[in-house]
Amino acid sequence: MIELIEVTKIYRGQQVPAVDRLSMKIEKGETCIFVGPSGCGKSTTLRMINRMIEPTSGTVLIDGQDVRQSDPDRLRMGIGYVIQQIGLLPHRTVAENIAIVPRLYGWPKEKISQRVDELLALVGLDPATTRHKYPAQLSGGQMQRVGVARAMAVDPPVMLMDEPFGAVDPVVRNYLQDEFLRLQREMKKTICFVTHDINEAIKMGDKIAIFNQGRLVQYGTPYEILTRPANDFVRDFIGYDRAVKLLSLFPVEKLVQRRAVTVTRPEWARAGEKVADQRAAGCFMLDEAGRPAAFAPAGALAGTDWERQLEQGREALVQATTLLRDALSLMLELGRDCLGVLDGEQPAGVITLEEIRQYTCRKEGGL
Ligand SMILES: Nc1ncnc2c1ncn2[C@@H]1O[C@H](COP(=O)(O)OP(=O)(O)O)[C@@H](O)[C@H]1O
Ligand SMILES: [Mg+2]
Repeated sequence: MIELIEVTKIYRGQQVPAVDRLSMKIEKGETCIFVGPSGCGKSTTLRMINRMIEPTSGTVLIDGQDVRQSDPDRLRMGIGYVIQQIGLLPHRTVAENIAIVPRLYGWPKEKISQRVDELLALVGLDPATTRHKYPAQLSGGQMQRVGVARAMAVDPPVMLMDEPFGAVDPVVRNYLQDEFLRLQREMKKTICFVTHDINEAIKMGDKIAIFNQGRLVQYGTPYEILTRPANDFVRDFIGYDRAVKLLSLFPVEKLVQRRAVTVTRPEWARAGEKVADQRAAGCFMLDEAGRPAAFAPAGALAGTDWERQLEQGREALVQATTLLRDALSLMLELGRDCLGVLDGEQPAGVITLEEIRQYTCRKEGGL
């Protein structure tokens, strides 16, 4: 656990503090995102945790211990640090770059080389082809992965990441974010992650800390920040698409109605009746093997044939793990107000536009 107590940083020659009486706790195993406009003090805060910058006043504790009691070099060796500029040494190979901290710890050669290969594989790079390359021979995304691998070399419990995916294009960034989330689900490290991108914060954070002019303006889960912004600054920073962002937090699972009516081809004539009996929003159309092939909404059952419904409803299926936002987008695209929800290949229920509307509607207790 990391705790900041009344931490202030006033840079030499400056009148206003870069960080102003900041107090917060970052729980063990959580990813805390520091977000806010440029110059609001995010990087300064991050760097006071590993003593790359010394606070003017206040205290930083890691697992209850004041960081001032640790030797700064030893402290930094034990904390993973990733920066936007990546900072790989250009005249060293990928393997040598990753090995920097393990060497400082005096690990034997064998152990280091094993660990390098393990880390490269972990971040999705092929050890055999990457190990001996120089940074200039890598793409931006590959360099960023090496940067992450290097920070994880000695498996530090705490990682500090300063806009780690800021320098790569949006497609690669999205991919690296997903990889990071996958890794973090297993590693459960305590992570402070700086970004200026609220979408990245919402996607990556267990907690989000919103900074403005050196002050902590709001600290909470993405859900809390989106549903209860502390003030106009936070509201503006989130943007006008707050409802859509809220829908990006949860999978369809959250709002699914667990009523799944299924119909086979021979039963088609009775489909309308079956759906009405169960007061369902529609039905799954099963193929000969009993697998859901399409979803037909209740209103469209009377007077249409099986083939036509099958054709029209093939795309109206989503997985329970699909984000609500993406389900809404599919509804808009297909011009439908309900979709069939699958759990793998099993019908799991229905998601309706009305449920989504109620969930986000301010008047009905949502936002
Ligand atoms: N070494 C420095 N000397 C003087 N002022 C600095 C220094 N580093 C940062 N600052 C100032 O401190 C404030 C916070 O900077 P920083 O923590 O880098 O913000 P952020 O990472 O949120 O963009 C800014 O006003 C910046 O200009
Ligand atoms: Mg910064």
